[in-house]
Amino acid sequence: MAGDIVYLNGEFIPASEAKVSVFDRGFLFGDSVYEVIPFYRGVGFRLDQHLKRLRHSLSALRIPLEKEWQEMLEELVQRNGGGNLSVYLQITRGDAGRRTPVYDEWMQPTVFACCNPIRNIYAAGADNIAGIRVIVTADLRWHRCDIKANGLLPNILVLQQARESGADEALMIRDGVLTEGGSSNLFIVKNGVIFTPKLSSEILGGTTRELVLELAREAGIPYQETDLGYAQLLAADEVWISSSTRAVLPVLEVDGQHIGGGVKGPLWLRMYELFRQFHHQLMTGEMTGEKQ
Ligand code: PDD
Repeated sequence: MAGDIVYLNGEFIPASEAKVSVFDRGFLFGDSVYEVIPFYRGVGFRLDQHLKRLRHSLSALRIPLEKEWQEMLEELVQRNGGGNLSVYLQITRGDAGRRTPVYDEWMQPTVFACCNPIRNIYAAGADNIAGIRVIVTADLRWHRCDIKANGLLPNILVLQQARESGADEALMIRDGVLTEGGSSNLFIVKNGVIFTPKLSSEILGGTTRELVLELAREAGIPYQETDLGYAQLLAADEVWISSSTRAVLPVLEVDGQHIGGGVKGPLWLRMYELFRQFHHQLMTGEMTGEKQ
């Protein structure tokens, strides 16, 4: 079954046999980074962009690890059946043999990866994609959200808060400025223009966010990367969120108030179709080079 075989420090082994030391700094301090990468029928989606961000996260934490990731990830996917899977990849600074905040340069990082089945959102068709509800809540995170680090307690708290309010995602706001979702990036549409928070250390540079902007540029849809506030969110014609496992989803309700009359908007539909085309080209091998 998908998910049975995991990768740990150079070996492909059953999940039940994978063990990590209690002195691993990922466990003790959240001293680690991660990626979530979708694979469709064994093909990585935006793999280069994920690996680029991984290198950024590793270098921000000064974890000196140069590795050929692609081959390992593809083998893991194949060993788990090669279907539609998201790969979770985590790298910790390693096992120091004791608990101490400071670390030695020589440490051997722990590398772990596993798979989870995902829905092929591109095969689903727009009619079968449900709009979501979100809440808006305070952004309690640190100021290096550009690093995809495992210290996710603030994200977990807001996502749980969303769930307990009957919502699917929590958008976060700091000093009156919207940042992003607990596990997604944010887009607003107003008068035919797409707006999204600009890249900074307050948000994660989402690989799906980057693709939205790339596809918008190619299709001649205007967009702006800028600060957005709560009033703009509520007054939007459309609101979307984006992430690797959810692509672009329409938000139909913010804090219990309808957006765009509570129905999926026309620009979302257009963007979804652009994503579908992009995915189709990737799967049929019509795409080459850096776009993948
Ligand atoms: N989350 N912002 C945050 C805080 C995220 O956790 C994520 C992704 C994104 C979107 O990034 P991308 O488009 O590269 O997936 C933005 C992943 C899916 C997760 O933690 O499960």
